Amino acid sequence: MTKIVSISNQKGGVGKTTTAVNLSAALADGGKKTLLVDCDPQANATTATGIDKPSLKYSLYHGLIGEAPLEEIICDTDTKNLKIVPSHVELIGFEVEMMSSRGREEILKRLLQTSGDEFDYIIIDCPPSLSLLTLNALTAADSVLIPLQTEFFALEGLGQLLETIKRIKQSFNPGLKIEGILMTMFDKRTNLARQVVQDAETYFRDMLFKAKIPRNIKLGEAPSFGMPVIAYDRSSAGSQSYLSLAQEMIKK
Ligand SMILES: Nc1ncnc2c1ncn2[C@@H]1O[C@H](COP(=O)(O)OP(=O)(O)OP(=O)(O)O)[C@@H](O)[C@H]1O
Ligand SMILES: [Mg+2]
Repeated sequence: MTKIVSISNQKGGVGKTTTAVNLSAALADGGKKTLLVDCDPQANATTATGIDKPSLKYSLYHGLIGEAPLEEIICDTDTKNLKIVPSHVELIGFEVEMMSSRGREEILKRLLQTSGDEFDYIIIDCPPSLSLLTLNALTAADSVLIPLQTEFFALEGLGQLLETIKRIKQSFNPGLKIEGILMTMFDKRTNLARQVVQDAETYFRDMLFKAKIPRNIKLGEAPSFGMPVIAYDRSSAGSQSYLSLAQEMIKK
């Protein structure tokens, strides 16, 4: 059975794409057939996996508007067991064009269903908004993984996200679960980061992943080489943290 996990937080720059790319690569490294779906018109996950965007014939946009079947959109990556549905800036058009069509929140779900059981995991990278694309991701998903940047304002805005998840459960996706909350860009040297983690542990308890993602320069550098961090520098702390996260998820 395929497990579909949406990486969501409407806050920008909290580590959604870094998590989507590196968790996908770590799952693939653990032998799981994994599909990364880039659901953000910024297409950062597409760039980070080394896809040459100008050479693409199709992107997720064409799948969503019914112009291409999923198998024609899926691209191979240099990582074994990891494939990607790439994004392109034209995906912005989806929001506008589909705004008033019936069943607009289920379009991605129906597209991904056509993959049958080819994949063990499908990981969806969401844009920083609670837009129609995010709504589609949360409707298609079995669970949502929420990256939280380890900083003072991290918990602000989380209420809004949890409220959205609750509403999506009520109306479109009753089975939607919270996979977990992931602390990102953790800098253990600062008192503030330790305090934020302590607060998050008190507040979220079992919802919090044991794995925490450290602030690590290799995680920032890897995308510019079009590589997941495990390919760029496997021994780095960033790499090890995403391998731990993947193991934690596989064992769940
Ligand atoms: N653990 C980390 N250590 C160092 N740099 C990081 C880490 N996580 C993310 N970054 C860097 O921080 C920036 C924002 O991260 P990322 O793109 O993953 O966030 P995002 O939530 O996907 O952003 P957006 O909301 O724009 O989609 C990027 O430049 C990324 O390389
Ligand atoms: Mg992103």
